[in-house]
Amino acid sequence: MGDVGHDELKGKIVGFLFLEKSTRTLMSFKTAVMRLGGKVLDLDIDVSSMGKGESLYDTARTFETYVDCLIVRCGSLEVLNEIRRGVRRIPVINAGCGIYSHPTQALGDVLTMRQERGTVSGVDVAIVGDLKRGRTVNSLVKLLANYRAKIRLVGCKHCEVGRDVVKWLISKGVDVKCYEVGDFDGLLKKCNVVYMTRLQKERGSDGEVIKLVPSMLRDSRDGLVIMHPLPRGEELSEEIDSELGAAYFRQMEYCMWVRMSLLSAVMG
Ligand code: NCD
Repeated sequence: MGDVGHDELKGKIVGFLFLEKSTRTLMSFKTAVMRLGGKVLDLDIDVSSMGKGESLYDTARTFETYVDCLIVRCGSLEVLNEIRRGVRRIPVINAGCGIYSHPTQALGDVLTMRQERGTVSGVDVAIVGDLKRGRTVNSLVKLLANYRAKIRLVGCKHCEVGRDVVKWLISKGVDVKCYEVGDFDGLLKKCNVVYMTRLQKERGSDGEVIKLVPSMLRDSRDGLVIMHPLPRGEELSEEIDSELGAAYFRQMEYCMWVRMSLLSAVMG
């Protein structure tokens, strides 16, 4: 990857307020800032005054005093809105909000489809796993609504997609269909992207994991792109990693490029 030599964020400081765990989103946003010549400022929640009971509002106002942009990961819309209430003068970027949204992941996912397939338009994508509490899915289907995508949804038992989401997609004219777990094998032969997700156990999801194993790929279409926002669970075995179409490690790099673009656009 090397030094890309951009300096759009030279002299700028980007704050990180992460109230939920993260590996890729945190690292890719941070490297994105650094690659653009900016600096990062973290707040370690465990040693911050939030432990003394300081409010989110005051914490957000404090960030605003010191940084030029704030990147937030949190557990609910209420928390995100409370942080936004304390931050008026600088951009706030959502880096994953509860079960609701993960917009920058969706941008990276769509970029991945474009890079891997040449185009996103008309993509036939099977989205599989925790469709109830997976925020990446929520954001991805909304973004895909702009691309004449065919969206095939295979939810784990008790973790099926919400009716409101399907209704919304239909209202936007999207070709969307829900499938049973048992249909997954057959579906794999027809789609050109499969987007696996893990069960959000820490958010109360519990059920049988839908697994993708190498033997299922035998009759899949040429050029099938296999995606996963990561971290993975049992749904995606390491044996899949050597498949040509396994794009999830490239996907995490595309997410970094997208975050660089976004940061340049809002602060550059
Ligand atoms: C996801 C997240 O945090 O929503 N990971 C990510 O940001 N790349 C997916 C997950 O936790 O399942």
